[in-house]
Amino acid sequence: MPDLTGQVCVITGAAGRIGRACVARFLEAGARVIAVDIVQADIEGVPAGDYVKMDQGNPSHLSILTQCLQASNTKHIDVLVNNGASGGNRAPFHEKTLAEYDEVMETNVKGPLFLSQLAIRMHLAQPEADRHELSIVNIASTAGHRATDQASIYSMSKHALIGMTKNVAVEYAALGVRCNSVSPGIMNVPNVQGFSSDQLKAMTSKVPMQRGGKPSEVANVVCFLASAEASYITGTDVLVTGGSTA
Ligand SMILES: NC(=O)c1ccc[n+]([C@@H]2O[C@H](COP(=O)([O-])OP(=O)(O)OC[C@H]3O[C@@H](n4cnc5c(N)ncnc54)[C@H](O)[C@@H]3O)[C@@H](O)[C@H]2O)c1
Repeated sequence: MPDLTGQVCVITGAAGRIGRACVARFLEAGARVIAVDIVQADIEGVPAGDYVKMDQGNPSHLSILTQCLQASNTKHIDVLVNNGASGGNRAPFHEKTLAEYDEVMETNVKGPLFLSQLAIRMHLAQPEADRHELSIVNIASTAGHRATDQASIYSMSKHALIGMTKNVAVEYAALGVRCNSVSPGIMNVPNVQGFSSDQLKAMTSKVPMQRGGKPSEVANVVCFLASAEASYITGTDVLVTGGSTA
């Protein structure tokens, strides 16, 4: 059972489906969760002072998070879960727009980049003798492993996020930072990437387990990777796909 007692865990996209499941799982493991999202939301177990409304793709918004941390004299982050993302629009590659490119890349790549830099800088600023480990878990996707029909920019952004995961992992492995990603497959939630419920049903029928995943099944893996139970795991991606990537 992963134990995150007293650990400071920043989870982005906390108001979304997988985000909420991660918050619940992390609270259950004893963490203090700082919930980040672009929308305002009430999340059970997260006090208002630990809810940060910000656009993760906008570097000037990072100060909203640092103010929250400073207000409670929090000097380091133990866990960063880069979960918040934009799915973009469904359209063929040649019809993709610069506006969609900017929005998806800013949210899905630049956001995790800025937030990871912040967490790593705080980590390195701690005196070496009592430095806590930092664990970063990026939520990627099967779209980060293969082409994705009508969602090329989203797919490109998730490939980039997996690349970032490997680079951060190797660059900081000797400095007490672990970085991994989790790639969910089809989730059993409505409105995935603009697919209709019939399309989702057809896609789900091809999953060897014959069902979509539950957000809690992703959250369990995220919580494990975040915790000391995964102390020798870094630079890897865990596919949570019901067998569809086997
Ligand atoms: N649902 C799926 O089937 C599926 C499959 C594979 C991967 N994923 C990945 O899992 C993660 C969570 O997916 P979900 O299904 O819970 O999505 P969701 O849409 O329910 O939640 C995403 C959250 O991110 C927030 N967000 C979006 N842009 C933001 C920004 N600029 N700044 C801050 N917050 C922002 C949204 O407000 C939302 O609360 C995403 O990274 C997604 O790409 C989901």
